[in-house]
Amino acid sequence: MIEKNDISKNKYEKEKLIDELVKVREDLDENHELQLWWIADERVFDLEKERLWPNIWHFIVHESEIPKPGDFTIRSVGPTDEVLAIRGQDNRIRVFLNICPHRGLQIVKAEKGNSKFITCPYHGWTFNSNGKLIGVSLEALAYGELDKERYGLLELKTENYAGFIFSTLNENPESLENYLGEIKWYMDILFKRNSSGYQFFPAERRIIKFNWKIGADSFVHDVYHFIITHKSASSLYSFEYIKNIISGYQIASKKGHNIRFLGKDGKGRGFPAEFFPILYPVWTPNVVEEAKKLLDPKQFELFSLSYHLSGLVFPNLGFFNGIRKIPDIDLEYPKSVGIPHISFRLLRPISTDTTEYYNWFVVEKDASEEFKELSYRTFMNGFGAGGVVETDDIEHWTYITKASRYSVNYMRKIKVPYKVGDYVTSLKDFMGPHGEDLDIIPTGLTEKSARYMWRRILDYLIGD
Ligand code: FES
Ligand SMILES: [Fe+2]
Repeated sequence: MIEKNDISKNKYEKEKLIDELVKVREDLDENHELQLWWIADERVFDLEKERLWPNIWHFIVHESEIPKPGDFTIRSVGPTDEVLAIRGQDNRIRVFLNICPHRGLQIVKAEKGNSKFITCPYHGWTFNSNGKLIGVSLEALAYGELDKERYGLLELKTENYAGFIFSTLNENPESLENYLGEIKWYMDILFKRNSSGYQFFPAERRIIKFNWKIGADSFVHDVYHFIITHKSASSLYSFEYIKNIISGYQIASKKGHNIRFLGKDGKGRGFPAEFFPILYPVWTPNVVEEAKKLLDPKQFELFSLSYHLSGLVFPNLGFFNGIRKIPDIDLEYPKSVGIPHISFRLLRPISTDTTEYYNWFVVEKDASEEFKELSYRTFMNGFGAGGVVETDDIEHWTYITKASRYSVNYMRKIKVPYKVGDYVTSLKDFMGPHGEDLDIIPTGLTEKSARYMWRRILDYLIGD
């Protein structure tokens, strides 16, 4: 039995934890240092369940994953909650909590499928794809008459951003537009640059031993690790080329998101101009023409400077659009320089040190079959489960997670610096929005974006 004293003790413990997190945040703000002890702490994990996951916008599904009426898939939002995303007969995608309103059973167990109706296997209540209860077994005998309107599936607030379906568990959320803030203008350069939309291939899914925040930290900013961690991958390129990785811009949002456009540094290093953006003119000029049509000229100009575009939608959706050379494919110059590829990754927390990792290969729906195939092979070679880039990263995330849980009592003194690029001044004038929420940093090598991400997580946990 829980005693009254236990409740007040728990309340006291929670307040103490929050006070400690306030100090973590102060350290981050004032000293640009992050304490490590709390990252995979059990109590923080509980606080995330209570304060972070119920309040953010979650990426659920891309509309190309469930293209036909009746197509559905099951996804998770945070560590505990499962949702059902289904395309209705009216072609609209809706997201419901995966729970039967009759007795609370997880109603759909199949990972994905197609069905006009959803029938619960326990007592047979049946719902249409709008979530309406339309069939009750033995209705007259069991209930006389039941108010079916009252017992539909519970629908989550959903927004469609260029085919990307986002939902939130918050019943009174800010709009997705507001949640993204000014960075949306920059994100549109990836999300909204072709009219046929993207095609998501089935995600690679793995359960890996790291805390989700360490993965997010890498997606949001870490250009600094590339030359060392990815030594084998970077050895395919010249040092001149590698230096371009540090050129370009990071668009760091105080709302925790980030996007970076890496490429030309103004000194003409790197690829010839006709290779930009991201080598698409060489492979599929159509992508460039479409982008020119759909983006505003300033957005297109920024896209045109880039051979790499990547970042994070706060807090757990990473994206990557870059190029890679693949050594086992013989291509003639200029194609031999590299093949563009796009991927999206989602970090779903399972426990303090375990994360489910979704990794989608993505390509323009209207690209040629030949390009899709090559782009896929490129992605797999670098970023697939056995790829030469991705595996390097994940190993490090595991060891940071482990070390963050050391029990020595001076763990509190271990504070890692987030100071890369601190000497670089943010731009006051830029081709895109650069107001309240954003810092435009004219280098790839900066950790400001990471500081903003960590701060935003702490803001949610502290609750102010
Ligand atoms: S629990 Fe679903 S119909 Fe009874
Ligand atoms: Fe990496």
